[in-house]
Amino acid sequence: MPIHYNGPMGSAPDIAALLQDTLSAAQASVITQATALASAGGLPLYLVGGGVRDLLMLRPLKDLDLVVEGDAGLFADALAGALAGRPSLRSQFGTTALKVGGMNVDIVMARKETYAHPGALPTVTPSSIMDDLQRRDFTIHAIAMRLLPSPAALLDPTGGLPDLDARLVRILHSKSFQDDATRILRAVRYEQRLGFRLEPETERLLQRDVTYLNTISGDRLRRELDLAFHEASAPAFLARAASLGVLQALYPALPGGPVMQERLARLPSLGGPPLPLAYLALLAYGLGPSQRQSLAQRLNAPRAWRKVLEDTPRAEENLAALPTTARPSAVWAALQGLAVEALQAAAVMAASAHAQGLALRYLKDWRQVRPALNGNDLLRLGILQGPAIKEALAGLQNALLDGAVKTVHDQEAFVRQWLKTHSHRS
Ligand code: CTP
Repeated sequence: MPIHYNGPMGSAPDIAALLQDTLSAAQASVITQATALASAGGLPLYLVGGGVRDLLMLRPLKDLDLVVEGDAGLFADALAGALAGRPSLRSQFGTTALKVGGMNVDIVMARKETYAHPGALPTVTPSSIMDDLQRRDFTIHAIAMRLLPSPAALLDPTGGLPDLDARLVRILHSKSFQDDATRILRAVRYEQRLGFRLEPETERLLQRDVTYLNTISGDRLRRELDLAFHEASAPAFLARAASLGVLQALYPALPGGPVMQERLARLPSLGGPPLPLAYLALLAYGLGPSQRQSLAQRLNAPRAWRKVLEDTPRAEENLAALPTTARPSAVWAALQGLAVEALQAAAVMAASAHAQGLALRYLKDWRQVRPALNGNDLLRLGILQGPAIKEALAGLQNALLDGAVKTVHDQEAFVRQWLKTHSHRS
């Protein structure tokens, strides 16, 4: 993948061409308006973070992160007005998040950060762009593209450009992971997303400081895991995190490298990418009930996460208990209501090809089966109000699953027949 700059020793990159080639029309228009407003207010303005990284790698940008030296709040309000963006959301750190169409535009006041203790949220004081770059996670995220004052230029005080070229994720100082251990997960996530490597000293410090994950709240850990689960490179993230000991530092009963590799090697049997929380199910596969409970507590898991954690052993057990002769209706009865993510993990990990086949058929086909008739239709066909409706619908559902009925006409005939055989009860 080419990197579109001439290197620190080469001539200056053509920033105008870079912006023109890489930004969408909507992003270009945000930059134009932001530059006009900052220029009118005499404010230095910079594009920073992942956006600059992506620009330099000629990858499409997701979001725009702008840094302003000076009153970022006033600037953000003016930009929100000019872009008719949604009312700005101001955080305690002088950050404003604007939603413009489908795009996020973050506006940050250039600042210095200090950490009272490892894992603490940072103490923030207004400062210069150079200090702002020094507070960041990795050199490749500490490059600023100065938009104002002109001329446009790249500021790279930490050596992000050569690291982009060498495809390295490198922290800025030896206490970085201690200050903010979420960077441990971020380092692995970006390494795998971008196809980079951890710079060797960064890798050594990551492993040295992996226990600092204990200083991070459940909500922050869960947010980082969730981001990783949503990446196309989630399997590679998990493999690498496991082999670095990161997963076991998160929770000791989670798998180490070889076990995780084995589980991930089975993923292709799913025939497509799993849902994000299927990775949680896969991580927690084989944990006992109390371990699941304490993992859920550690991650301050919300309802959806808890359901996946609780349903995974149920999916495993129910699937294993199905006889080889099980009809679709029996599979449906055993698996319905369980979280799809738990079922995906159970399918991946199934002990036999037959059980795996049943789980996959359930996920792909049987899960969606619903009768064409509803309760009102059954009343119209003569079934009396009350439990009979539910029973007849369940019978119809099973008949559909097992292929005994297909068309609406078949289904009506089934109900009429059901009425005859159950007439003494309805
Ligand atoms: N950042 C940091 N330390 C963190 C989180 C974020 O220094 N623990 C800084 C980095 O400079 C990062 C920027 O904040 O580039 C924005 O973070 P984020 O929005 O999470 O990521 P992006 O850089 O926008 O990258 P992407 O959206 O591509 O993941």
